[in-house]
Amino acid sequence: MKIIRTIEELQNIRKTITSSVGFVPTMGALHDGHISLIKQAREENEIVIVSIFVNPTQFLPGEDLDAYPRKDEADKKICEMCKVDYLFMPEISTMYGKEEVLIKAPNKSYMLEGEARPGHFDGVLLVVLKLFGLTQPTNAYFGKKDAQQLSLITQMVKDLFLPINVVACDIVRENDGLAMSSRNIYLDQTQRKDALLLSKSLYTAASLIAKDERDTKTIKNKIHEVMEKLDVEYVAIVDREFNEIQTIELNNCIILIVVRFGNTRLLDNIWL
Ligand code: PAF
Repeated sequence: MKIIRTIEELQNIRKTITSSVGFVPTMGALHDGHISLIKQAREENEIVIVSIFVNPTQFLPGEDLDAYPRKDEADKKICEMCKVDYLFMPEISTMYGKEEVLIKAPNKSYMLEGEARPGHFDGVLLVVLKLFGLTQPTNAYFGKKDAQQLSLITQMVKDLFLPINVVACDIVRENDGLAMSSRNIYLDQTQRKDALLLSKSLYTAASLIAKDERDTKTIKNKIHEVMEKLDVEYVAIVDREFNEIQTIELNNCIILIVVRFGNTRLLDNIWL
């Protein structure tokens, strides 16, 4: 595996690649969720590029940019183990100049995650577009856990006519059901136990739907009931384009929840 730190090196290497490229962008602190994306990329492409870059433009003032977990050495080993070909680890000054062309995510990026973090998705789309420009992937792999991010990146690729296939990958969970996240390490023992109510509430919703319940209000009430003791930020039921829906439509529906544990926000969702 080759570690790349400069734009020039990455561009020069990219020019020599004529076969399929699978790209997995990450912010590091790699866990089994990332590993499953990398493994899928490994299976489906000749060349695999992973990036590790904690992107400042997607953090709002006061968010956990400085405290965001950084585990470069462990991450390098994981990428070696997963047979990554190129690991791109740029500095902030490598990725950003002083004054830049900006990306404005569509209005729907200001709801749900974007309401709690206004401007977050502008930063995500900007860095992903830069990384796409550099790596020019055939396939780019994103987890369904960040469902709104995935939906906006898919829309960006479509709207900007980028010749990239965005691959949506299933959520990877701990054995007890907690969705994997780099932020899980912030949870203390009690919070870690309480966090199981997120997946429990989603499974309860899924079993209601399996029993033919279609009214999203009833389903949301049930989810709130299961998570009664938690600090729930939102429960939303949307279609794949992130429009809120009143009636469940199978194969076109995502139930999203966000819960706060102190300063840590945990997201979970289920795609129906
Ligand atoms: O999902 C993430 O880890 C980040 O938002 C991404 C896509 C790597 C962009 O910084």
